[in-house]
Amino acid sequence: MKIAMIGTGYVGLVTGTCLADSGNEVTCVDIDQAKIERLEQGVIPIFEPGLSELVVRNAQAGRLRFTTRTASAVASAQLIFLAVGTPSAEDGSADLKYLWSAVESIAPHLAPDAVVVVKSTVPVGTNAAIFAKLAALTGRVCDVASNPEFLKEGAAINDFQYPDRVVVGVRSEHAETLLQELYGPYLRTDKPFLSMTPESAELTKYVANALLSTKISFINEMANLCERLKGDINDVRRGIGHDRRIGFQFLFPGVGYGGSCFPKDVRALANMARKVNLEPRMLLAVDEVNNAQKSVLIEKISTYFGEALPGRTIAIWGLAFKPRTDDIREAPALVLIDYLLEQGCRVIVHDPEAIENVKQQYGSRLIYCTQPMDALEGADALAINTEWGEFRNPNFDEMRRRMKQPVIFDGRNLYEPEQMRQHQFVYHSIGRIAVE
Ligand code: UDX
Repeated sequence: MKIAMIGTGYVGLVTGTCLADSGNEVTCVDIDQAKIERLEQGVIPIFEPGLSELVVRNAQAGRLRFTTRTASAVASAQLIFLAVGTPSAEDGSADLKYLWSAVESIAPHLAPDAVVVVKSTVPVGTNAAIFAKLAALTGRVCDVASNPEFLKEGAAINDFQYPDRVVVGVRSEHAETLLQELYGPYLRTDKPFLSMTPESAELTKYVANALLSTKISFINEMANLCERLKGDINDVRRGIGHDRRIGFQFLFPGVGYGGSCFPKDVRALANMARKVNLEPRMLLAVDEVNNAQKSVLIEKISTYFGEALPGRTIAIWGLAFKPRTDDIREAPALVLIDYLLEQGCRVIVHDPEAIENVKQQYGSRLIYCTQPMDALEGADALAINTEWGEFRNPNFDEMRRRMKQPVIFDGRNLYEPEQMRQHQFVYHSIGRIAVE
């Protein structure tokens, strides 16, 4: 199939590349000339495991092209995907300025039977509004479908190639048939192609992310309760997870969820509810609990050091909002860094991928280390924010030798309290009894 992908951000680039990899002819369009030039040379603007190789392979095979010229890419395409950013506006609603400008730019070039597919996460009703806008701009009926993405950063290629389901919101059989053909090769026998109205498809994306966020905020609140009631959240998690109605996924306590999706989508859905006079009590609570949870290590560190915190050296392992990405958007680590700097601490940071992004934001106010052990030199404490694999089994003896005091605040429960007692660390984690 011939495809135009408008927007080469995270979603557009991963989707376009994966679609090229299954034999489609994909042209990725972006208004950013410099980005397109870099992509043509095989330079990928984001860190996503496996993406770089896939881009180069498909570009060399001639199935994946990059351009700033919307007209030619759209004119020859059967499917035109809109994958531009929809950031949060001040009031928490989605800002659709990039989307509307993309709609205007494609309108004059659409082939008569082309289908416009909305990949960007958009408020419910946006597909209908795009349908109306394209009709007004072109003077004819243009097919518009919704096709939300469920890609996890760090595992996006696998998620695309092995989806649990494909959701499309369609108005015509033509759009449904084209999308079914497009996604057929990815759907194993037990994984459904779910066709529904555009409104239901738009809602599905928000509701999925809101429920996953709810699970995280719920387990975080229970972890905080466990600590105070002298329970262990890990035991409780196992105790509930074996109930098949509950399961184990997305019930790991931590320092709160971050990233470009959960915080934004929970707020946007709450905003939509308010617009139709429904008080979104659950969604507001999920957001509030998460904001508070981002300070959970701050509370532990300030209680431990008390008045003696200013001037201390604090090491931080893990800056990205989760492992296998360099993304620091809404990352809990940033909340901790801001607090420690405000308190006059010396902050030494390490992350396997996100250092450059943090450097852009904090410059010389932090000390950056490419090796985790180097970050511990002279530290009064270590705070762990992201569960990168390489932090799971460190050399504890070397850690103790490097640190000024053997104190760990573990926001991801990477170690066992008993193990830390044996290694003679002071060890504070989430929802478990502290080792002092
Ligand atoms: C998410 C959705 O999973 C994806 O379907 C959607 O399309 C985009 O948003 P992503 O933002 O890449 O993907 O991250 P995800 O792996 O879902 O993790 C989100 C956050 O939740 C991270 O900050 C992570 O640390 C946190 N989390 C996750 C927990 O704190 N505990 C858990 O048990 C699981």
